[in-house]
Amino acid sequence: MHFRGTFMMIRTILFIGILLTFVNLVPGVTGINVTYASEMRIDDVMTHLNELQKIATASNGNRAVKTIGFNRTLDYITNYLKLNTNFNITKTYFYVRNFQLLRKPTFSSTINGIVKKYTYSTSLSSADFYYVQYSTSANINNNVNLTAIPNLGCSDADWLAARPPPAGIVALVKRGDCSFIEQATLASKYNVAALLFYNDGTASNRMQPIYISLGQNNRVPALFLSYNVGKSLATAANDPSKVTTVRLTIETDKDFNPVGNICADTLTGDPTQTIIICSHSDSVTAGPGINDDGSGIAATLALAATLSHLFQTSNYASYAYRVRFCWWGAEELGLLGSDFHVSEAKKSTIVGERIQDYLAIIDLDMIASPNFIFAIYDGKTAPTNTPAAAKPGSIQMTTLFQDWFIGNKFPWDYTTFDGRSDYGPFLAAGICAGGLFTGAEELKTVEQQKRYNDTLGTGFGGTANVALDNCYHKSCDTIANINKFALNKTVQATANVIERLGQQSNLKSWLYPTTQIQQLSKQTPQRKFEYNSINEYFGLPYN
Ligand SMILES: *[C@@H]1O[C@H](CO)[C@@H](O)[C@H](O)[C@H]1NC(C)=O
Ligand SMILES: *[C@@H]1O[C@H](CO)[C@@H](O)[C@H](O)[C@H]1NC(C)=O
Ligand SMILES: *[C@@H]1O[C@H](CO)[C@@H](O)[C@H](O)[C@H]1NC(C)=O
Ligand SMILES: *[C@@H]1O[C@H](CO)[C@@H](O)[C@H](O)[C@H]1NC(C)=O
Ligand SMILES: *[C@@H]1O[C@H](CO)[C@@H](O)[C@H](O)[C@H]1NC(C)=O
Ligand SMILES: *[C@@H]1O[C@H](CO)[C@@H](O)[C@H](O)[C@H]1NC(C)=O
Repeated sequence: MHFRGTFMMIRTILFIGILLTFVNLVPGVTGINVTYASEMRIDDVMTHLNELQKIATASNGNRAVKTIGFNRTLDYITNYLKLNTNFNITKTYFYVRNFQLLRKPTFSSTINGIVKKYTYSTSLSSADFYYVQYSTSANINNNVNLTAIPNLGCSDADWLAARPPPAGIVALVKRGDCSFIEQATLASKYNVAALLFYNDGTASNRMQPIYISLGQNNRVPALFLSYNVGKSLATAANDPSKVTTVRLTIETDKDFNPVGNICADTLTGDPTQTIIICSHSDSVTAGPGINDDGSGIAATLALAATLSHLFQTSNYASYAYRVRFCWWGAEELGLLGSDFHVSEAKKSTIVGERIQDYLAIIDLDMIASPNFIFAIYDGKTAPTNTPAAAKPGSIQMTTLFQDWFIGNKFPWDYTTFDGRSDYGPFLAAGICAGGLFTGAEELKTVEQQKRYNDTLGTGFGGTANVALDNCYHKSCDTIANINKFALNKTVQATANVIERLGQQSNLKSWLYPTTQIQQLSKQTPQRKFEYNSINEYFGLPYN
């Protein structure tokens, strides 16, 4: 309501302004130059954050997927968009797997006819084996041969060298120097019947089975064995004088939960040249997620409503490009909503819905951290598996954000462009990406504290050696965790960058310069990178 009032007033001023200009009475009437940023109101963004806090408070303290707080968040976003924009709003569902063990898993081996049953226990120090999060079900009741994967099972070569070959039988793999997900992906590629991980025994705390998660996309049944059990089975499997077989049962539920993605498109602009502005709608279960990512939700909503109003006022030219605002679900479970959108776009033949219809994506994930830095995704540090086509434009987008902070004499930093948020799947699909991040669990440095204090003034430097967001993924990520000053600036900067992209005369050739891409294509990647590495999200042991 406050919002509409603002616009009515601006329209009136503009009207008078145009009249006065027309009759040439007052030259250079102020307010005639409307910019996207100048129309953004931090109080509108704060209103959304207060509403998100209310939703969490009324919904067991969080807004995580599979909860009523998440559904209410989506309802709030769609209702607000319906009332305050003329955009085309779509809600698309995808499914996330539940994971719950229905009964204790069982595991036994038979070596030259001698049967050995192993102990399952939730007390890991006394367990021979433990379940693996997102394992699929298996019911291997007859003896199936076991193969020990040579080395660490981190490369195709290891799996191809395994004797007997792993297809259709059970594979045993030691904790490696790649992620468990990478090992499981290879196991799936080589069609194992089941996968047994075992600890590597390199230290006293690396003897027992450990708790790991293979993520939503896992397709193999898996268990995690202690070092001693794994080692004796590997020795037996590698001994030609022995016949080593195993049996195992894993029973998990098969429930799938629908999770919604919301997108809202401008009615103007070329749909085959779309700019995405996005954030994620879900919180973790630990808390209300007001900075993570209420700040992004609120900013994206306010940016959407403001652009809709701007395009409907006659003096602000709409962009040649369609702008699509999106709120992805299940980011906290491993970028599932954005990943789903990208995989659908790769399959789509509908004009405006195909992956090639996207030019750029701006991601806003945590932009109001209490002990903030103004961190810009650094296009130069794109993961090395990023398609060459997405690199020059991502660097250009970094520069646009830098320009705003430098132009306004504000401090700024780079942040690693590691794919740890929803831009990841898009970047990996060759779409230029950028955005801002005010920081999570990492500590503010003394240098940053000084530089921010010196540039912004006493008190704005925050606290050195303290996390940028001490409430990251905690119950205290409430409305009190929001730095309004930082949020205002990140919103201002984003509006300005969207405008600069939108007003490019040929955005496609500006972001995707053919010759540079050809040169970059010749460089070979040095390191494989998995953006969807769920271990990082859950802080689980990473190999
Ligand atoms: C309006 O924009 C023009 C061109 O960018 C600039 O020269 C002029 O100073 C602006 N006027 C105001 C009032 O900001
Ligand atoms: C959330 O919405 C989905 C989709 O409509 C529905 O299937 C689910 O039951 C809802 N969850 C809760 C907890 O209300
Ligand atoms: C709205 O978006 C959907 C899907 O994104 C599309 O199929 C539909 O044609 C659009 N409608 C309009 C009026 O643009
Ligand atoms: C299992 O291995 C034994 C030799 O150790 C072999 O004779 C048998 O054919 C194998 N079974 C299967 C199903 O591969
Ligand atoms: C903060 O910056 C001001 C100058 O803006 C300076 O006078 C003050 O000493 C600085 N304080 C700290 C703690 O660095
Ligand atoms: C938000 O930031 C802009 C740009 O720096 C500034 O002009 C405006 O006054 C700020 N708003 C508030 C409420 O501080």
